Amino acid sequence: MGTAGETVRLLLGGKEYELPVRIGTEGNRAIDVGQLYAMTGHITLDEGYANTGTTMSTICYVDGEKGVLRYRGYRIEALAEQCDFTETAYLLIFGELPTADQLEDFRGNIRRHTLLHEGMKTIYDGFPPYAHPMAILSAVVGALAIYDKEFNDPRDVTQRRLAIYRMLAKMPTIAAFSYKRSIGQPYIYPQNHLTYCQNFLNMMFAVPSEKYSMDVDFVDALNLLLILHADHGQNCSTSTVRMVGSSNVNLFSTISAGVCALWGALHGGANEACIDMLETILADGRNLGKYIDKAKDPNDPFRLMGFGHRVYKNYDPRAKVCKSICGRLLDRFAGDDPMFELAKELEEIALSDPYFVQRKLFPNIDFYSGIIYRILGIPKEMFTVLFALGRLPGWIAHWREMHLSPDKRIHRPRQLYTGHTEREIVPLIKR
Ligand code: ACO
Repeated sequence: MGTAGETVRLLLGGKEYELPVRIGTEGNRAIDVGQLYAMTGHITLDEGYANTGTTMSTICYVDGEKGVLRYRGYRIEALAEQCDFTETAYLLIFGELPTADQLEDFRGNIRRHTLLHEGMKTIYDGFPPYAHPMAILSAVVGALAIYDKEFNDPRDVTQRRLAIYRMLAKMPTIAAFSYKRSIGQPYIYPQNHLTYCQNFLNMMFAVPSEKYSMDVDFVDALNLLLILHADHGQNCSTSTVRMVGSSNVNLFSTISAGVCALWGALHGGANEACIDMLETILADGRNLGKYIDKAKDPNDPFRLMGFGHRVYKNYDPRAKVCKSICGRLLDRFAGDDPMFELAKELEEIALSDPYFVQRKLFPNIDFYSGIIYRILGIPKEMFTVLFALGRLPGWIAHWREMHLSPDKRIHRPRQLYTGHTEREIVPLIKR
């Protein structure tokens, strides 16, 4: 990153100001307005931050035009093929792929902390059976700040490192327990001889009364989906994590806030919406043509869920990877489930219909991930929980990067006030 001496000249109130241009390692450019208020008394205004870089980061690179996603410089396709999720997590958090010893140590540290304090089970008992697992996830992750309070200081190097291990270790247990609570089954404790993904599937689907054997394709698919979701730049939940963490609150409360942000339908909820849409089409006599027409009608707000992306105007590289594993799983497990047939048909239409082709509305990761989760037997309400499990290393990486930065400050955006100017209070009886 450098400035290359380039500046932008700003003419304001008859005065001229120079603002430096920062250049990223991929040639991306930013006008640095860090001194703007001090120099001019003006702020910038950018609702939704679409034009605002809130930080400099070395973690994730996204080029939506070219369909490129890299973690720490490595292509997502290569990571999906050659690494597993814990390796990818290490890479994101610590910046480099681990050596064999570093990876063993990292995995050992995660394994050692998978159990929850027994007292935490009583928190689950207090939730009604209809509680959404994302609400439970956020609440129980937040409660770690109570049970693991000796790791609450993000400025202490040791506490920070141990909080990271504990957060990564306990998230699958918390997530699986939330599912077991929602279906009234006994909690299945973590088994530390299993891998991260095996352990999660075991806690989700095993029951004490019989042996559970998991399909290796299921484990691979979960591993892949977690890698693909692990980071995506300054998205809403990651920005939330940076914002909340900037106050120096502990990691557990910070991640709990990230989970809340992810829960929103505009963020993590699209794959659930995609399955809902397929169910609606099936229930409506499988009238696919009607829904394609609705999606194309400019006067109809209906959109095909799982198609299009704000950033990717080319094939989302994550969707490409997902498509191949989805196809493999469908060949093995689709059986005569009408939803999978419908999904295949919809994909073919969207990839050939000029409306979708011209607008570059490719199937996105949510289209395939929803289908894969369904094949794995994961219920719709758990889809966003799985997203959170995958995104966790990305959240932690950004939180750690922020705390290590010499430029770290509490996030405190400004506003352009557009309310009343000063006025007098009218006494209550006269209002
Ligand atoms: N179905 C039908 N038409 C669509 C769709 C869709 N899914 N998405 C975009 N379009 C059309 C728009 O109507 C618009 O048409 P026009 O040019 O004739 O007006 C054109 O494509 C461009 O659409 P925009 O709204 O400008 O695209 P934008 O980048 O703002 O939207 C978004 C991206 C929100 C993802 C959109 O494609 C969408 O709503 N998709 C469905 C929801 C979804 O799958 N979300 C998950 C995204 S992936 C993720 O978040 C991990």
